[in-house]
Amino acid sequence: MVMSELDVAKIRKDFPIFTRTIRDGKKLVYLDSGATSQKPQVVIDAEVDFYSKNNAAAHRGAHQLAEEATEAMESARQIVADFLAADVDEIVFTKSATESLNLLAYSYTSLITKDDSIVVTEMEHHANLIPWQQLAERTGATLKWFEVDSEGRLDLSSIDQVITEDTKIVALTHQSNVLGTINPLEAIVARAHEVGAVVVLDACQSVPHMPINVRELDVDFLTFSGHKAVGPTGVGVLWGRSELLEMLPPFLFGGSMIETVTMTSATWAPAPRKFEAGVPNMAQIVGLGAALNYLSKIGMEKIFHHEVELGAYLIKRLSTIEGLRIIGPQHMQARGGTVSFTFGDIHPHDLGQYLDAQGIAVRTGHHCAWPLTRKLGVPATTRASLYFYNDESDVDALIDGIIGAKKYFGRS
Ligand code: ALA
Repeated sequence: MVMSELDVAKIRKDFPIFTRTIRDGKKLVYLDSGATSQKPQVVIDAEVDFYSKNNAAAHRGAHQLAEEATEAMESARQIVADFLAADVDEIVFTKSATESLNLLAYSYTSLITKDDSIVVTEMEHHANLIPWQQLAERTGATLKWFEVDSEGRLDLSSIDQVITEDTKIVALTHQSNVLGTINPLEAIVARAHEVGAVVVLDACQSVPHMPINVRELDVDFLTFSGHKAVGPTGVGVLWGRSELLEMLPPFLFGGSMIETVTMTSATWAPAPRKFEAGVPNMAQIVGLGAALNYLSKIGMEKIFHHEVELGAYLIKRLSTIEGLRIIGPQHMQARGGTVSFTFGDIHPHDLGQYLDAQGIAVRTGHHCAWPLTRKLGVPATTRASLYFYNDESDVDALIDGIIGAKKYFGRS
């Protein structure tokens, strides 16, 4: 019995997609929220309302609609700031977390030299690996990384050799999108700050799932995407300490990010505007505000607790299946509700396809973390990722599906 304070049946009524069936009338068992979350009606309505009533170019134009669009967008910025316990001027809107990380890696180009090092981890999503590889290539800096142990945790035994006096940036994920591991930030942040490096946190898999306070985490930059947090696609957030945002040069150049412009030069508006060139994704930003308000109303503590309890149930049930190997931490200590596994010699893509035929949506493959899956000796896994709208019945359906696959593929 999963102990939870959430009324999942009631919550699911907020999400229109759960009224549909899948594959000829089967209940939709959505276990792919690590890839993208489903959207409650309030988020869909917020976007429709913006386009129906307030649509105009925010921060441009002297008319009422432009004022309303600006007000709607800036209210959403305040909602994001409150959600992260940050200051409003520290919130930069981007189109995705991927863009946020590329923004940082490009903006740091002129501040990194060949004598510096950049530190990542072996469990990074490609979005938090390749931009830093490219920064190292552009500048001649050295790229170093923390390795992952066989349980899917970071090996911090050589922390003083990985983060050294020449380290300028430490970029890591808060929660692995493959393993569910929640990384121990305290020791890493302390060591990074000791040598004067900044810590960039990829919080795509944590902001939607647990309470986040950027001051308590003590990191320097944090990013997440709207669409994994019941918000729209096309909007990401970059949070940065104000003094760092002020110091960094912009990444994209164009309208609305300037202070003055001549034919040969330009100066920049203060952050966050200097990082928001071009007409922003206003409807998506407004939708993100509605999404975070919705999550806050449910309560991030309750969401986290629900996922830990349901994750424990999922791991317990998966562990009873012969031939199934969980890739990553086997207990719920410092891990979230994302669980990857292999199943005998049944290829994850075949398993995923079989599950799909039962109405069960999982992700299969290397999950955009190829170095990690290679290190763990599994070219591909099947991944079930939970959210607060999942309950025991979804886990039970997955387990029945896996057992059914065993028979279907003639392995029993
Ligand atoms: N990063 C997303 C995932 O892990 C797409 O599925």
